[in-house]
Amino acid sequence: MGRASRHARWLSSACAIAAAVNVTAAFRAEAAEDVQQQRVEEGRALVTANCARCHATGMDDASPHAKAPPFRLVVERYPSENLAEALAEGIVAGHPDMPVWVMKPEQIEAFLAYLDSLKK
Ligand code: HEC
Repeated sequence: MGRASRHARWLSSACAIAAAVNVTAAFRAEAAEDVQQQRVEEGRALVTANCARCHATGMDDASPHAKAPPFRLVVERYPSENLAEALAEGIVAGHPDMPVWVMKPEQIEAFLAYLDSLKK
């Protein structure tokens, strides 16, 4: 076997590895997107069940409770990282008319994913 063909073989296996790495990265990105989408759906279900009787949960609906801000405004007012802490401690739920509801970490994650999905 000549030098050139050995080199060609080396090259093609290097390419195969590079291609495999690329495929894995794309697959990972897709899987992460799926997880994020799933969290958004969980968060949406969460607020529909627990918050929607007072707060607007969509992009242009009005809050059933006149004083409750629509969540699309909440996410503009507070960076979601700050909200996470408040939610874990139940601070946010300390408003008049609002039931005290301390969220579990996985509920917070879902709620914040949902909130982020409301950002324009
Ligand atoms: C019974 C009605 C009611 C329900 C149910 C309710 N809220 Fe509220 N919420 C309010 C009202 C009223 C306010 C505004 C209180 C104020 O500003 O004095 C508010 C304010 C908030 C705020 C903004 C706080 C601020 O300082 O601007 C957040 C965030 C919030 N609620 C989250 C939630 C979440 C999450 C749920 C569901 C788990 C929920 N609320 C369920 C009535 C409710």
